[in-house]
Amino acid sequence: MKRKKFLKFLGIVPFVSIDSKCRSQEEVNDTGEEQICKTDRDAEGPFYKANAPQRSIIETEGTALTIEGKVLKGADCKTPVANAIIDVWHCRNNGEYDMQGYKGRAQLQTDAKGNYSFTTIFPPPYSGRPRHIHFKIRAAGFNELTTQLYLNSH
Ligand SMILES: [Fe+2]
Repeated sequence: MKRKKFLKFLGIVPFVSIDSKCRSQEEVNDTGEEQICKTDRDAEGPFYKANAPQRSIIETEGTALTIEGKVLKGADCKTPVANAIIDVWHCRNNGEYDMQGYKGRAQLQTDAKGNYSFTTIFPPPYSGRPRHIHFKIRAAGFNELTTQLYLNSH
């Protein structure tokens, strides 16, 4: 497996009561300050499957991609959300979702500092859609957030 790119992805999260801080390499400004933002909801799409296995290595057949992130809350987006459950799913290297099994799917849990990470592949674009990874986040006391992370082509 060839490691081609490493992305930092801070944040994700809901709506009104959970804000999030999202940072990618492109979102850090010239002074190195992190941009604060609230994660927007995005379509779940037709390929979500519940009960994905808990694992941090999701898929290995393709170009490797590692994503690290945090789930944060609060008006200042500085409070970590521990034990948030994150479902991640994306299409496989052939552009199709595994609906029979759980390839390209995992469930993660944030640690005490709200961190999560996983390694998978750059999912290919399909049906005219850009590369993307689906996320669904649940945390006690907050509404569920479903969103998507879009990736630049490499
Ligand atoms: Fe999708």
